[in-house]
Amino acid sequence: MINIIGLGYIGLPTALTFAKHGVEVVGTDYNKELVDKLQKGQLTFEEEGIEELLKAAINNNIVFSTEYVKTDTYIIAVPTPYVKESKKLEPKYVIAAVKSVLEVCEKGAVIIIESTISPGSIDKHVRPEIVNKGLIIGKDVHLVHAPERIIPGNMIYELENNSRTIGSDSIEIGQRIKELYSSFCKAEIVITDIRSAEMSKVVENTYRDINIAFANELAMICRTGDMDVYEIIRIANMHPRVNILSPGPGVGGHCISVDPWFLVGDYPGLANLILTARKINDSMPEHVLSRIRAIMRENNIGDITKVGLYGLTYKENVDDVRESPTLQLLEKMDEHLAFGMKVFDPLVKVKLVDNQYSDFNKFIEDIEIVVIMVAHAHIKENMDSIQNKFILDTKNICAFDKVYKL
Ligand SMILES: NC(=O)c1ccc[n+]([C@@H]2O[C@H](COP(=O)([O-])OP(=O)(O)OC[C@H]3O[C@@H](n4cnc5c(N)ncnc54)[C@H](O)[C@@H]3O)[C@@H](O)[C@H]2O)c1
Repeated sequence: MINIIGLGYIGLPTALTFAKHGVEVVGTDYNKELVDKLQKGQLTFEEEGIEELLKAAINNNIVFSTEYVKTDTYIIAVPTPYVKESKKLEPKYVIAAVKSVLEVCEKGAVIIIESTISPGSIDKHVRPEIVNKGLIIGKDVHLVHAPERIIPGNMIYELENNSRTIGSDSIEIGQRIKELYSSFCKAEIVITDIRSAEMSKVVENTYRDINIAFANELAMICRTGDMDVYEIIRIANMHPRVNILSPGPGVGGHCISVDPWFLVGDYPGLANLILTARKINDSMPEHVLSRIRAIMRENNIGDITKVGLYGLTYKENVDDVRESPTLQLLEKMDEHLAFGMKVFDPLVKVKLVDNQYSDFNKFIEDIEIVVIMVAHAHIKENMDSIQNKFILDTKNICAFDKVYKL
């Protein structure tokens, strides 16, 4: 039996997938409200295929609880944000979860950290907790780092089909945990040491952040030089060894916009390219604002309340708004004491910001400029309803003749 700690975007699909493949699971979260909901078969976020998984698992191999249970295998999937001032990893959630596990675990138990952590975090923050309890690592407790790569919106598929990394102190334990994940993972599972596993995960997201920053910088250069960045990237990517990602209104979420900071925080003076990329991506909401200003000026629109931001989430077709470019943009507006832009997102049902609409038609009726911040399937299906508006398409999804781009 495995005890999965943290039933959020990562822990829940992982727990359900294990359960589907015959592994007995106890899913633990200290959020009682969340656990109560899951026990009743209710979800706290939307994700393709997860509802069916929950229904199937709940009558079979899974139990949800606020308690940690005594067993020999734990998976920890709790948040790992960064500290805004120092840019370093905030390890408090991982430490608290490990401490709770150590209170109950069987002798010889394996604690798998799935949360993304900066290289050296297990040495610095987790091992001391075990040693301070008088336990011997490698005998009383084993440590593994198994970072997660799945993407919201396609999590269930990717859990089974993405390759994985297992970082372990010993090949034996690495092999045992590889077998555990092989219960559902059809792709290659690589065994390495813990620090390499920590670093490779952070490197993967940093690579993407830098690539997006390059695309964003190109977008700004092309804007100034009056060139079509999308055409240029399309052509450049025909080169067999070039793969530039797409520019956009900024980078959000809890991975790509967070993990590179760990390296900046831990290696100041060395992580120069990484820091520059972060700054470029963080500047994109300001660039969108300057584009909105230009469109307003060009079309003699003086009233900011005539501008509508479409999309509040950090990516398309999910309801996750963490660190989203739209929220970053609204924060910038707030700093400049400029209020009144209207906002709509078909997937965000709770009211998060001022002037947020729940009715798409009313939203469109009340604005003159639509800023496409997120390429939800919904807007692609409803393009016709915005064709009479001024459109700033930051995602390059709109095929009308007169559309403003980044
Ligand atoms: N969401 C993603 O797309 C994604 C992708 C790859 C990796 N990750 C990483 O996975 C980790 C988890 O991210 P997430 O998005 O699932 O976070 P989340 O905030 O959605 O979920 C975390 C859950 O952990 C619970 N929790 C926190 N501390 C706890 C404790 N001590 N005991 C019991 N429950 C506790 C919280 O109540 C919450 O429900 C992070 O390190 C993140 O960087 C996330």
